[in-house]
Amino acid sequence: MQSIDQSGTSAASAPIQKIAHLGIAVRDLEAALVTYRDRLGLRHLETKDVPERGLRVAFLEAGEALIELLAPLNEQSEITRFLADRGEGIHHLCFEVADIRGELGRVEAAGIRLVNREPSLGAEGLPVAFLHPKSCHGVLLELLEAPKPA
Ligand code: CO
Repeated sequence: MQSIDQSGTSAASAPIQKIAHLGIAVRDLEAALVTYRDRLGLRHLETKDVPERGLRVAFLEAGEALIELLAPLNEQSEITRFLADRGEGIHHLCFEVADIRGELGRVEAAGIRLVNREPSLGAEGLPVAFLHPKSCHGVLLELLEAPKPA
């Protein structure tokens, strides 16, 4: 399916290809898995620790996109402040792109403030970088570079 916007760009050539995942900050990963896996019935793909971000992360499948449950491993985690200020809830939205460095340059030139100028490896083992929520109407956006087709 293709849609045409007013600039004439087709969805097939759009730089942002799809929603990769929705990140949800939770206090207790096991309790969140009871809800999302056992009660809601989403398929649990894996749980992994990302110690450099202070996170334990679980991925569940929701159609083409994933749900990323993020729980703190320690007080220095990337979501400690978010949980303290706002409680559990939607933390970020991740878009898949083909060329993350190219997209970071493009959106910055278009006026979006970057949180990370350089991509780093995310929980999926793929390059990720965040865009500032103040530039994105209150939503922390993550870009993730899709693996190149072999
Ligand atoms: Co994410």
